[in-house]
Amino acid sequence: MARHIDILEHPQTAIEVATATLAQGLPIGLPTETVYGLAADATNPAAITRIYETKGRPRFNPLICHMSDLAMAERYAVFDPISRKLAEAFWPGPLTLVLPLRSDSGIHPLATAGLDTVGIRVPQGFAGELIRAFGRPLAAPSANTSGKISATSADHVSDDLGERITLILDAGASVVGVESTIVKVEDGEMRLLRPGGLAATEIERVTGKALKRKKKASAAIEAPGMMASHYAPGAAVRLEAKEVFADEALIRFGTPVIAGIENAVAVLDLSPAGDLPEAAANLFDFMKRADATGAATIAFSHIPDEGLGEAINDRLRRAAAPRE
Ligand code: TXA
Ligand code: MG
Repeated sequence: MARHIDILEHPQTAIEVATATLAQGLPIGLPTETVYGLAADATNPAAITRIYETKGRPRFNPLICHMSDLAMAERYAVFDPISRKLAEAFWPGPLTLVLPLRSDSGIHPLATAGLDTVGIRVPQGFAGELIRAFGRPLAAPSANTSGKISATSADHVSDDLGERITLILDAGASVVGVESTIVKVEDGEMRLLRPGGLAATEIERVTGKALKRKKKASAAIEAPGMMASHYAPGAAVRLEAKEVFADEALIRFGTPVIAGIENAVAVLDLSPAGDLPEAAANLFDFMKRADATGAATIAFSHIPDEGLGEAINDRLRRAAAPRE
């Protein structure tokens, strides 16, 4: 079983043990403000291979490389003016920028799946300090088996991957609760590759430009992790529920009127007050809890598509998508 270290109680030990583990080429469970990451040295091919193996992740799906700050990021990627403005406004924070990779970057092609671009993010808090101490970028996908629900606590990581990794750092529940928003600037236009923990309206406010949504499904993989079925619990998922049937767990937002609520195996409230950031923070944990009731289906009430609702609804559509 993986060793756990509480970073609030033992920050120095956490840094020392984590940097030593990373230097051995081993991945670690790392808390970030969005979700927990499975982090390893982005310049070490053996370490990156272990990430893909531990998650069972297809290798054509590139990893986000995490940096300690913008100055570090500029050593690995080329920034256009709009991307730099976004980095200055939102880093550290839940924003990933896809940028041209510098040819001498040292990031291993396994981390970028051979692309000539790299997804870069500067996480808040402890993860940034660890990267500074380690001195190299950390490739980190979410710390879950590929296709399953992302981890937002150290216990989620250990339930899913605890037998396959040696170290999990524990910082309690992730405050944002959904993965970073991914943006790519091309020819002066901002494109949203994945809605996430930074609302699109914030990005548009800072740049004064519209964020273009994904083009119609093209054959080429754009953000290759954006596959139809993802975030899948064991139970089936039903959206926009206005009533509940026997054998269903209900996850609701606000206090909607739901017919047959007495039938529900369990009722979980993402945010009784209708606060979308609160709902995002609770989302993955509540999906796991609803799944653990053994309900055949998890029914979700309507969630508005504004602000962080865009990211929540994106995850729910994938959770509800037909599985292979
Ligand atoms: O909040 C987050 O972003 C978390 C934490 C741990 O930082 N990480 C995360 O990683 O969500 P992951 O691997 O689960 O999702 C990364 C997404 C995938 O959809 C991948 O295809 C996309 O980023 N991506 C990475 N590099 C890319 C690139 N060069 N071009 C386009 N998409 C890229
Ligand atoms: Mg993921």
